[in-house]
Amino acid sequence: MYELFRFEDINFQTESQQEIFSNIKTIKHDSLIARLRPDLLTKYFVVVCKSGGEVIFAKNNEGLIIGLLVFNRDNRITLNFLKEYKLALVSTLGFSFSMTDKILLYKSIINSILIKDLDNEYTKNEISLVAVLDKYQGKGVGTSMINEILQIPDEIIHIKTDEGNLGARALYRKIGFREVVIEKIGTRRLACMRYEKNEI
Ligand SMILES: CC(C)(COP(=O)(O)OP(=O)(O)OC[C@H]1O[C@@H](n2cnc3c(N)ncnc32)[C@H](O)[C@@H]1OP(=O)(O)O)[C@@H](O)C(=O)NCCC(=O)NCCS
Repeated sequence: MYELFRFEDINFQTESQQEIFSNIKTIKHDSLIARLRPDLLTKYFVVVCKSGGEVIFAKNNEGLIIGLLVFNRDNRITLNFLKEYKLALVSTLGFSFSMTDKILLYKSIINSILIKDLDNEYTKNEISLVAVLDKYQGKGVGTSMINEILQIPDEIIHIKTDEGNLGARALYRKIGFREVVIEKIGTRRLACMRYEKNEI
C-alpha cells in the first residue's frame, strides 16, 4: 500500500523537483519547511543529508508522497537554512494567496525575533519533522518512518511535538520515547522526548 524511500534514492534525472515535491506542502500545513518551494526544499534536504541526517518519504501506489520525516544531526541546520533563505521565504509566503502561508510568515517573523539560537541537547539527533497526509494517518506510516531512524546506530534520538498534541505524544511513547522536558521555543510550548537504545 505504501513504500518508504530516502532523499538520496531520488533520481532527479528522471523526475523533476516540481513533480516529486508538489504534494509536500499538503502534508503538514503548519510547517515552514514543508511549504518551501520545491527548489529550496531540495536544497534543504541536501544540507540535512550532507550533515549526516536523513530524509525519509512514504509514497503510495501512484507514486504520490504521503509521508515525510526529517532527521537532523543538529537542528540548528534548519534555523540557519531558514535564516539564509529568509528573503526567498518572505517573497514566496508573502505573495501567496493562501491564508495558511500568510499566518506561517507572520509566526516565523515573530519566532525569528524570539529564537536567537537553538543550542541544547534536544536539538541534537532530532526528528525535526514527521507528518503523514491526513487521509493516510493511522495506518502505520508514521511509525514505520520513525522506526527507520531508530535503526541508525545511535544511542539517543530526540523528537519534539506541541504540548497539546496528545495523540502524537502517545504514539511516540508507544514507540519507546519518553518525555524529558516541556520547553518554550519562540511562541510554542514543546514536549521534548527522548529514545535511548540502552533503556529499551
Ligand atoms: C503524528 C503522525 C506523524 C503519526 O503518523 P501516523 O501514520 O498517523 O501514525 P501511525 O499510523 O503509525 O500510528 C497511529 C497511532 O498514533 C495515534 N495518533 C497519532 N496522531 C494522533 C493524533 N493527532 N490524534 C490522536 N491519535 C493520534 C493513533 O491513535 C494511533 O494509535 P493506535 O495505533 O494505538 O491506534 C501523523 O498522525 C500526523 O502527521 N499528524 C499530523 C501532524 C503531526 O501532528 N505531526 C507530529 C508533529 S511532531
